[in-house]
Amino acid sequence: MIKPDLTVNLGGIELASPVLAASGPFGYGYEYLKRIDCSALGAIIVKGVSARPWAGNPPPRLAETASGLLNSIGLQNPGLEQFEKEVMPRLKGMAPRLIVNIVGCDIGEYAEVAGRLDGMEGIDGLEVNISCPNLRAGGIAFGTDPAETFNVVSAVRRQTSLPLLVKLSPNVSDITVIARAAEEAGADGLSLINTLSGMLIDIETKKPLLGNTFGGLSGPALLPVALKMVWQTAEAVNIPLLGMGGITSAEDAIQFMMAGARAVALGTAFFYEPEVAEQVAEGLRGYLEKHEIDAIGKLEGIARKGGPADAR
Ligand code: SIN
Repeated sequence: MIKPDLTVNLGGIELASPVLAASGPFGYGYEYLKRIDCSALGAIIVKGVSARPWAGNPPPRLAETASGLLNSIGLQNPGLEQFEKEVMPRLKGMAPRLIVNIVGCDIGEYAEVAGRLDGMEGIDGLEVNISCPNLRAGGIAFGTDPAETFNVVSAVRRQTSLPLLVKLSPNVSDITVIARAAEEAGADGLSLINTLSGMLIDIETKKPLLGNTFGGLSGPALLPVALKMVWQTAEAVNIPLLGMGGITSAEDAIQFMMAGARAVALGTAFFYEPEVAEQVAEGLRGYLEKHEIDAIGKLEGIARKGGPADAR
């Protein structure tokens, strides 16, 4: 039986596995990494880090939906100084590869964070978060406008030589326009998709359920939307894609790869199945063995080859 090669290169980051932990549900990772088999994960992408501490949004911040989860955390985080002093030492030697999700209220803050993380020992790449729907300033405000996307990604690019992923929002009319702007500004890869903006109402209190009224939807309900956007973006850019949105199984992950993703990230699934990364990595290996495919990279975009997209 063949021994399939699961390694991939994601925008300059060599990964032993194409399965990553998405920024958000995995937190800063050290709690999970203590109890799971880390060899299944190619990298972890830690929760967003800003220059100074952010308090986040008022509670309630989470609500379950049918096949999904609505969140409005507001990127609560301890800021760069605490991140360096307290989080980084705890992650030492634990993470397979470490990618830091970076956020800011304005372009200056994004650039400041990128500059200070550049060269910090143990960091393999940055993910620029221009897609958080739960902020008054920053986040999605950059990710819905191609000119702003270009400006913020260029500013970050000037501050770092680390591999740079840019995390895109589905809350746009054409994700490929934003994807191209990020690529032109120097992104090495794209992460997609972040959450879909939504809300719930508590019919007893007769008020919005979340403290911030609106939140971002993640989980399995999102998968077909994310898959379509990965497919469209793969057509539009020449940099690798990290696909995410509702992945809970190897079968889901394979669909993302066949649509054009080089690697995949798991998010909400960690909340109810901490061992999901092992299950997905094992399932990928099993699929490749069964179909006698010697390398995971051979799945990338395979559903598009000779299909309607190629005919255009
Ligand atoms: C949040 O912290 O509100 C969610 C983060 C994100 O959507 O990027």
